[in-house]
Amino acid sequence: MSVAEQDSGYTITPLTEVMGAEIVGLDVGQPFDADTLATIRDAFQTHHVLCFRDQHLNDDQMVAFSTQFGPLEEFPEKDHTKGKIEVYHVANVNQAGEHLPEEDPTVVYQRNNGRWHTDSSYRYIPSLSSILYGIEVLPDEAEGGETGFSNMLAAYAALPDDMKARLEPLHQVHSYADIRRLEPSIPPMSVEERDAFPPVTHPVIRVHPDRDYQRSLYFTSNTSLEIGGMTLQEGKELHRWLVDYVSQPEFCYFHRWRKNDLVMWDNRVLLHRAIEYDFARYRRVLRRTTISGNTMILGPFFPEARAAAGRV
Ligand SMILES: [Fe+2]
Repeated sequence: MSVAEQDSGYTITPLTEVMGAEIVGLDVGQPFDADTLATIRDAFQTHHVLCFRDQHLNDDQMVAFSTQFGPLEEFPEKDHTKGKIEVYHVANVNQAGEHLPEEDPTVVYQRNNGRWHTDSSYRYIPSLSSILYGIEVLPDEAEGGETGFSNMLAAYAALPDDMKARLEPLHQVHSYADIRRLEPSIPPMSVEERDAFPPVTHPVIRVHPDRDYQRSLYFTSNTSLEIGGMTLQEGKELHRWLVDYVSQPEFCYFHRWRKNDLVMWDNRVLLHRAIEYDFARYRRVLRRTTISGNTMILGPFFPEARAAAGRV
C-alpha cells in the first residue's frame, strides 16, 4: 500500500501493521514548507517511526531538520559529540575513523543499548523523538545491526487485566549514572555530570494527553531496574517479565539499515534497542539528534486521565 502525496513528489508507505512508514522522494536537507511539515507531523503521530530514504546530510542540515520538530537535547557526556554538542556519534568507529575494540566504552554503550529502552528517560522531561542517520551500515549478508522498536500503546492494550491493575500504581527509577550497574566497565560520570542528572521516577503506565489520555507502557531496561516500593530483586523480576512481553513479534518492527536512511521515532510511545552484531568484524556509523520532550510524564492517576477512564 502506497500513499502518494498529491503534487508533492514524495510517498509515505506503511512498513508494517504495527508501526513504521517509509518516505521516498523527499529531500529533508531543505527546510519543509508548512504543508509538508504538517504532513510529516501527522505521519509521525500515526506511524511512530518514519524512515526517510536516500538522504545526504551534514551535521548542520541534520540539526536544521531536527529543530523543525522542537529544541534539541544536549548530551550528558561531552566527549560523545562530534562537532556539534547536539549531534551524537553512534558508532564502533572513533572520530578519526578507526575501528574501536569491543571493550571501548563507546562500544559498550551500544551493547547496553541492546536492551529495550526509551531515550533520555533519565530526564524529568524525557525526549519526544530521536533521529538517527545511517552513514556506514552493515552489508546485507551481515547478521544484526538492526534497530528494533516495540509499540507500547499496542503492548499496554494487549496486557491481561490483572497485569494492568498490578502495573497501574508503579513508578520506575530512571538514572543515567546507573547504566554502570549493568555495564561496570563504563567510566564513572564526573561529579558535575552526575549532579546535572539525578535519578528521577516515572510512572510505568504513561497517559498521552495528545491521544485522549490513551495509555502505554513506559519503562527502560538499560539503566536502573528499580521499581518504587519493590525490592531490587522484585524490580528485576518485573523487568524480566516486561522485557519478554514487549519482545513479542506482534508489537515489534526491526529496521534493517540502508546507507543514507534517516529514521526518526517517537520515544513517548515506543521502546527501541540496537540489535547486536559482530563489532570486531563490521563498522557501523550513525549520527543522532534528540528532540526534547514537550510534556512531563503523566500517569494514570492524573485527574484528566482518570476522568478519561471514567473514574473520579
Ligand atoms: Fe537509544
